[in-house]
Amino acid sequence: MDQGLKGALGLTGPEACLAYYRDWAANYDSGFASEMQYLLPAHVAATYMATGAGGPVLDVGAGTGLLAQALRDMGFRPDIDAADFSAEMLERAAQKNIYAGTFRVDITQPIDLPRRYAGLVSSGTFTAGHVGPEALPHLLAIALPQAQFALSINRRVWQARGFDVALDDLARQARITDLQLIEVEVYGAAAARIDADHAADRALIALFRAA
Ligand SMILES: C[S@@+](CC[C@H](N)C(=O)[O-])C[C@H]1O[C@@H](n2cnc3c(N)ncnc32)[C@H](O)[C@@H]1O
Repeated sequence: MDQGLKGALGLTGPEACLAYYRDWAANYDSGFASEMQYLLPAHVAATYMATGAGGPVLDVGAGTGLLAQALRDMGFRPDIDAADFSAEMLERAAQKNIYAGTFRVDITQPIDLPRRYAGLVSSGTFTAGHVGPEALPHLLAIALPQAQFALSINRRVWQARGFDVALDDLARQARITDLQLIEVEVYGAAAARIDADHAADRALIALFRAA
């Protein structure tokens, strides 16, 4: 099985995405994340930490748990839950013993979790072949008032999938406040040797608060 970044970014729907991550879960950390020097989870974690927000936190599209691991490495102690629709990715995440709970959910649909989160963080889930802005209202529905969001959105899909318009609309409707965008590199220098097409990818970390 030859799973990798190129295939992941070309996924065309939820069924294809689920099948892809079923096979990618086993070597996602040791292959993709390590070889591409995947910096994005640490960037999102540092950005969330800098807000001073607490927990409980939901890691959205948690995958194998790299973002929660980065938060823990930075000293974040409150509960973190993982939400992802891939059972195989969640199984890897659970093995790391960093999550209070792991939940199999499709974030493009209404999410069957209580409104209990003071923070919602995400790295790598809002990208090509993955999830668009249709998930944002579902995430707001499980966020406490004033909950802090830190969501990475790949530059390639920022306008192409309408994240710019969706976030502006939510701000105009006063459903979110304090919107800030922080641009970061997705990968480190080592990525150029592995995948020249994506090595220079950048993401915007959308920081905002639920109303
Ligand atoms: C590139 S991985 C990122 C994983 C992790 N956050 C990281 O940075 O390593 C994208 C994750 O989004 C999940 N995902 C994709 N579509 C989803 C959906 N509709 N609902 C929930 N999770 C989804 C995939 O299963 C996968 O684990």
